[in-house]
Amino acid sequence: MFWNILCHPIWVISTAVLAIVVRIQRKGSWDPLACTVRLKGKTVIVTGANTGIGKFIAMDFARRGARVILACRSESRGTAALEEIKKKTGNSDVHLRIVDLSSLGSVREFAKGILEEEKALHILVNNAAVSGLPRQITKDGLDASFATNHLGPFLLTNLLLDLLKCSAPSRIVTVSSMNHKKGEVDFSHFHGENLTYHMDMVYNHTKLHNIICTNELARRLQGTGVTANSVHPGVVMTETPEEGAVSSIYCAVAEEMEGITGKYFDSDCSLGLPAPLARDTALAVKDFEMCERVTSKL
Ligand SMILES: NC(=O)c1ccc[n+]([C@@H]2O[C@H](COP(=O)([O-])OP(=O)(O)OC[C@H]3O[C@@H](n4cnc5c(N)ncnc54)[C@H](OP(=O)(O)O)[C@@H]3O)[C@@H](O)[C@H]2O)c1
Repeated sequence: MFWNILCHPIWVISTAVLAIVVRIQRKGSWDPLACTVRLKGKTVIVTGANTGIGKFIAMDFARRGARVILACRSESRGTAALEEIKKKTGNSDVHLRIVDLSSLGSVREFAKGILEEEKALHILVNNAAVSGLPRQITKDGLDASFATNHLGPFLLTNLLLDLLKCSAPSRIVTVSSMNHKKGEVDFSHFHGENLTYHMDMVYNHTKLHNIICTNELARRLQGTGVTANSVHPGVVMTETPEEGAVSSIYCAVAEEMEGITGKYFDSDCSLGLPAPLARDTALAVKDFEMCERVTSKL
């Protein structure tokens, strides 16, 4: 671990400096309710917004006056969340769009609809994920957890990139997990090969790929005004998802996050050091290209 840090001195120094700056600017833990940033005139998409952490992220954006698009796989669960968010926030500019992230066809259909209907996109939060799925291969020939947690969101982000660029400054936030530290990279995993379906190992791998590809995306987006960061939301229970929304909201709206990209934030919104594999820039290039190839072929 220490050796890996020494292998990336520039990354470590820039991260340390940024961590100090962000901490000084924050002056204590960040509170979404104390943050006065308004999102009137801004369009945001939150995947998996019908429940858990995603619903609270969407609720916060709606309170700030954004045009909010809930990207959900279930019409009925999505509609229930839509009504609740509208009622609690008084914002009527909240909309439901259906997407099944485990299906690349569904992701393409969703993105096509967004590109036809929306003039701008300022915030994309890749929040939806599954854990503990048994072995299951999708009709695209992908492992279902990989398709849902990584390859579907990867394709979605890439299909929406031009719109995000046209709308800059804009932000991409990917909800990962500290469990990415237990993950490994093996590209045969994408197709369900060499995977062990116990102890949430598959989930951990997907969450590692989330960070690796977000970092490479951030590198590719330098100079475009679009930032891309990953977060750990904290370990939250079904009854306490509000706390889990904080680090994503922080990355998506906090003024002090303007221009900060390619970083990993902990649940308390402090800048974190992701696993060594997530800091390997050569691996990131390879991973990103592999994901591009897999998602464009299918
Ligand atoms: N909760 C934690 O302690 C914790 C810890 C670390 C990281 N995280 C991360 O935080 C994020 C949110 O977690 P959570 O606990 O709020 O999860 P959750 O309550 O299980 O909600 C997951 C959301 O993702 C949606 N989803 C699942 N599969 C989908 C698909 N194929 N297409 C579209 N949407 C799909 C779900 O829709 P349905 O309602 O239709 O199933 C739901 O809206 C995830 O990325 C997770 O990995 C959570």
